[in-house]
Amino acid sequence: MNKVEQVTGGLNGTIKVPGDKSISHRAVMFGAIAEGTTTIEGFLPGEDCLSTIDCFRKLGIQIDAQGDKVKVEGKGWQGLTEPIDILDVGNSGTTTRLMLGILATRPFHSVVIGDASIAKRPMSRVTDPLRQMGAEIDGRDNGNLTPLSVRGGQTKGIDYTSKVASAQVKSSILLAGLQSEGVTTVTEPHLSRDHTERMLRAFGVDVDVNGLKVSVKGGQDLTSQHVIVPGDISSAAFFLVAGAIVPNSRIVLENVGVNPTRTGIIDVLQQMGAKLELFNERVSNGEPVADLVISTSDLRGTEIAGDIIPRLIDEIPVIAVLATQAQGKTVIRDAEELKVKETNRIDTVVSELKKLGANIEATGDGMIIEGPVQLKGNTVNSHGDHRIGMAMAIAGCIAKGSVTVENSEAIAVSYPNFFDHIHTLSEK
Ligand code: S3P
Repeated sequence: MNKVEQVTGGLNGTIKVPGDKSISHRAVMFGAIAEGTTTIEGFLPGEDCLSTIDCFRKLGIQIDAQGDKVKVEGKGWQGLTEPIDILDVGNSGTTTRLMLGILATRPFHSVVIGDASIAKRPMSRVTDPLRQMGAEIDGRDNGNLTPLSVRGGQTKGIDYTSKVASAQVKSSILLAGLQSEGVTTVTEPHLSRDHTERMLRAFGVDVDVNGLKVSVKGGQDLTSQHVIVPGDISSAAFFLVAGAIVPNSRIVLENVGVNPTRTGIIDVLQQMGAKLELFNERVSNGEPVADLVISTSDLRGTEIAGDIIPRLIDEIPVIAVLATQAQGKTVIRDAEELKVKETNRIDTVVSELKKLGANIEATGDGMIIEGPVQLKGNTVNSHGDHRIGMAMAIAGCIAKGSVTVENSEAIAVSYPNFFDHIHTLSEK
């Protein structure tokens, strides 16, 4: 449980948000299947990425993790060995789906489980195509729900059109494709984050990208790398919103990843009239990076729908908080995917923000928020979802009275020092 008081003197100062979650997971997994020692700096030591480390250790890979520095002793694809224990992914959908793609081609048996949230999340979006490629996978609901049992083996390439724009689906199939016969192609309806494509290339893999189609040839090996992980824009998003809505604020966020497949939050803030600037734009280790500066802003409502949705899918809980402070209506559509995240984020965002007095309604594929509204203190619940917990804490910074966030320990999944950063910025 955590209690957040209204911030009256503004949020001011400079912070470095923790490493990108998507890139941290991939660096460990790709390091594990590569030949040689992969070193990672800026790694996110959040619970999700620690689950990935734990699983790959159980698969026989030696991994040394010291805070944000990690060393992975890869021994090539053949270096993965049959685990004697179950592989526990904790709360992490990325670990589950990407690892399944790797396990699909390994000639051994394994069992994948996770927490109560993972047990509800749909896995047939990856297990169906992986089965079509030749992997034997079973689990509850005909292989849709954990616990899942996998017997990998000789797989064949597939030309797969995904119904959802999901980097987890795309990555899982491409990873299996690397050890399958022939070519594997994934086509998605909108572009999802492309960290897999970028990092596979850095590890020496040929990846062919043609619009929404990505292909890899089977039989490709990876070579170990030094990976520098930028700050996570999905974590920065909480302070971008806080800086825009808390009076008298100016926050500098250093070294944030600004890969265009992730920057929907920047577009939305600018569309809503936020005072947001990017400085020092550079490319670090194949990923665009910048320093961001946000100040208290006059905001107007907006419409968020279509292609931009996958570019800000994880930021919608905190965008809802932002919208409560904007003049007029904000409409979020085409975001059904929110229903299958760590919680049903349409339901959890709407129910928790209502407790603070927000004017917000759920729709079938998103939500409608009317502002501006003076939020008020109350007790809310993260429902075990890190991003709901953080969004509510940011709402607490502007609510009259204090906001108590129950189950706030879930925040350690992606942002272990989140409350330290709120305190640092409010003391300046
Ligand atoms: C992720 C992709 C997204 C995102 C998740 C991380 C990734 O999920 O919500 O937090 O690292 O590939 P989907 O690709 O399933 O939308």
